[in-house]
Parts: sequence; C-alpha cells; structure tokens
Amino acid sequence: MEKALAYAKENQSAYLEELKDYLRIPSISASEEHKDKMIECANFVAGKLKTAGLKKVKLIKTKGNPLVYGEWMGAKGKPTILIYGHYDVQPPDPYELWDNDPFDPVIKDGNIYARGSDDNKGQNLVHIKGVEAYLKNEGKLPVNVKFLIEGEEEVGSESITTYLKTNKKLLACDAVLISDTSMYAPGVPTINYGLRGLAYLEVTLTGPNRDLHSGSFGGALANPINELAKIIAKLHDKNNKITIPNFYKDVKKLTKKEKENIASLKFSDRKFAKEYGVREVQGEKGYSTLERLWARPTLDCNGIYGGYTGEGAKTVLPSKATAKISMRLVPNQDPDKVAKEFTKYVKSLTPKSCKVEVVDMHGGRPAVIPLDDPYLQAAARATSKAFGKKTVYTREGGSIPIVIDFMENLKAPVILMGFGLDTDDIHSPNEHYPLENFEKGIYSSIYFFDEIKELKK
Ligand code: BES
Ligand code: MN
Repeated sequence: MEKALAYAKENQSAYLEELKDYLRIPSISASEEHKDKMIECANFVAGKLKTAGLKKVKLIKTKGNPLVYGEWMGAKGKPTILIYGHYDVQPPDPYELWDNDPFDPVIKDGNIYARGSDDNKGQNLVHIKGVEAYLKNEGKLPVNVKFLIEGEEEVGSESITTYLKTNKKLLACDAVLISDTSMYAPGVPTINYGLRGLAYLEVTLTGPNRDLHSGSFGGALANPINELAKIIAKLHDKNNKITIPNFYKDVKKLTKKEKENIASLKFSDRKFAKEYGVREVQGEKGYSTLERLWARPTLDCNGIYGGYTGEGAKTVLPSKATAKISMRLVPNQDPDKVAKEFTKYVKSLTPKSCKVEVVDMHGGRPAVIPLDDPYLQAAARATSKAFGKKTVYTREGGSIPIVIDFMENLKAPVILMGFGLDTDDIHSPNEHYPLENFEKGIYSSIYFFDEIKELKK
C-alpha cells in the first residue's frame, strides 16, 4: 500500500488534468441533443479503466446510455468490491449565472469549478485513480474490484436497474462502494449510512377552456392558479406537518443511538441559516434540523407555472396552472403508495370548478445501511487515515435510488463514502469540488482496499 500512496501523492497534478478532460465532456443525460456526448463520455471512462489496469473493460449497451464495466479479480479468496458512480451530469442551466463555462473547468480558491465536478465525475475518478495507484506500483490489489459506472443517474437510473436484476452473477460482491454524497463539514471525513427516497408528481389544474380577460371573467369563473395555490397551501398544516392521509404511517423512528449521534454533531441552525441568507430555519415542528433533513419525510413544490409570466402586466384569467411537487421519503415509506395517497388527496381538494390531472413522474426508495457493518466500519477507518481526523456518521437528505436495489439484489451493504460538500452547489450554477477532497478521496480509496483485505468470512 505504501508504494500506491506515495505514487498517488506524487501524481496529483496529472490526476487533475485528467479530471479536467473528463469535465470537458458535456454528458447531460436530460438532453436528447447530447446523445453522442454520452457515448463519448462512456468511452472516456472505459479508457481510464483500461489505463488503470482493469480487465474486461467494456461498454454495455442499454436502451438508454451505455454502462461502463471493468474488473480486476486477481485476489483469490479476498473480498470483492463493486464500485458504482455516474458519468452523466445535470443540465448547466441557468447558463448566465455561471462565472465560467460549465464545461471548461476553472481552478479557483482550492476548488475546481465545472458541471459534474462534485456530482459525480470528481468523486468517481477518485476510485479509478486509487485502483490505478495499486496496479501500477504493486502489480496487484489486495482485494477484487468491479466497476459499474452509469450514464442515467440524473434521470432515474432506468437502464442500470434493469441490468442489475438480470446480471446478479456478474455483479456479485461483498460490498458496494459509492462516492456520491457529502461530507458533514470541510475536512471532516464522513460515512453516510442513509438516503431519502423520492416521489415526484406534476399537478395540472384547468379552469376555463381558454385564457380570458380577467376583467370580464374574474370573479365569475375559477382561476386555476388561485385554486392550485390553495391546494398547495393545504398540503402542510400550521406545524409544517404534511396533511396527506396516512403519510407518516410507515415512517420509522430514529433510534436512541441515532439521536445521540445527531446530538454529538453539534449542528448550528444559526450558521446554517446564515450560509443560505435566511433569518431562520423552518420545518416540521418537534424535530431538529438534521432530524428533519435525514429522517423525516418532506414535501416541496419544485416549480409552478401558468398564466402570464412575461415582461410587464397583462390582465388575464388563465386556463391552466401546473406545479411540480416532490416528496422526500424515509424508511419504510413506499413511493408508489405515497404517490397514490397524494393523488387521491389532491383530487379531493380540487373544487368542481376546475379539472385536475396528476402525473406520477418518477420515484425512488429510501435506504439505511446498518452502522455496525464491518465494511462500513473499515471505510470509516480508511477515511479517518486519509483526512487525519475522526470519521463521523451522517444520513443524507438527497436520494440515490439504485442503492436499495444494490442492497436487495446483491445482498451486500452499500458504503457511501462521500467526498462532496453541501456547499458545492451541485445541480446549481458554479458547481465546484474541493481539490483537497479529490486528493484525500484517492488516499481514502487506497486505505479502504487495505482495510478490508482480511474481512472475507
Ligand atoms: N449525488 C446526488 C445525491 C445527493 C444529493 C447526495 C445531495 C448527497 C447530497 C445524486 O446525483 C442526485 O442528485 N440524486 C437525485 C435523485 C433523483 C433524480 C431520483 C436527487 O436526490 O434529487
Ligand atoms: Mn445529482
């Protein structure tokens, strides 16, 4: 391991150039126009796996974007780790709010700025480089590894979900390793042991069959924007609890140990509010901010449109109004069940003067990984060595729906070794990733393989 570590230390500037090349490919999965860029990016990843010394490197064709696979299985009798990541990125919009071209990376104040720098290219490259450092300098790894990098994470992971179900043998492993989450704070190594799930729906209210003059008709016919706003307002009560019937029924409570852990993290509401430019935090009554983020379900309107939104004033009684509404879910809530209850409830709140249509867009199940899992504990030791600090345990408010599918199909724990920061502006303009985390992420990867080599049976 020492040779691998020394090599990784010496090669940081070369690695950074490779990351820049990776970030220059606009692999936007949400955009049909970028199909050829997805293939270019998959080939780029395959090239990196080959250079790292992995075998059987291939692109796996799917209905959507190709998966990239590679393995090194030379450590007989030792554990096998499946490393997952995604090479697709979110659209860069709104473009004009970026300080640099989102696909021409810039290094500033110890960060690399580009779309995908944190989510997820900068995080998955870490493990490719960790493996490479071993294979180039020691001729072998202490464990077996398989890589599976997908190109549809930001749009629902459909292809990999199908692939996983029919290729359990090829993907068989003792643990899955994923770096696609955040650290608790800068410099604080973190292992994540939970993710929220998601139910995402779109509600459209239609009032009159066409847009009308708001003077001639306002007060006589329903305004779907007004009515939609009333419905949205009714989805929370005065304590910010969600009012959908049965919504909290399947919610698993935090354990005493988890509550103690959260208390030990000494989260500051004041600092948090300040970072995001608000006077105070807000949410469900009776729970702390971290509890609300990690272990309580929430409902948010992601976007709302209808009527006239152009320049100046236009008097109009609109025909339609639409809201995109998502719910973050926690164990043991089921996205399909939640979507059905939501739909029923929204329909019941709609007045007869409007028609309502509810479309279920997509969902994902939540996941929690047992804290005493030996691979998780080994990961905590590895990150602690790399960052020179004690590792903390967190859950995430965000979602990675494939995690629970890995757990169920491969019967293996998923280790969420996050190197991002919540302040990295993922999915937002000026996404960035700390160079320190890129570097120490590679060391964490190297330490991890060493820490788990004796874990089998
Ligand atoms: N890397 C994120 C998940 C994440 C977000 C982890 C925030 C930690 C903090 C992932 O790429 C993502 O954005 N997931 C989507 C999933 C959705 C489209 C099903 C999410 O959480 O919105
Ligand atoms: Mn993302």
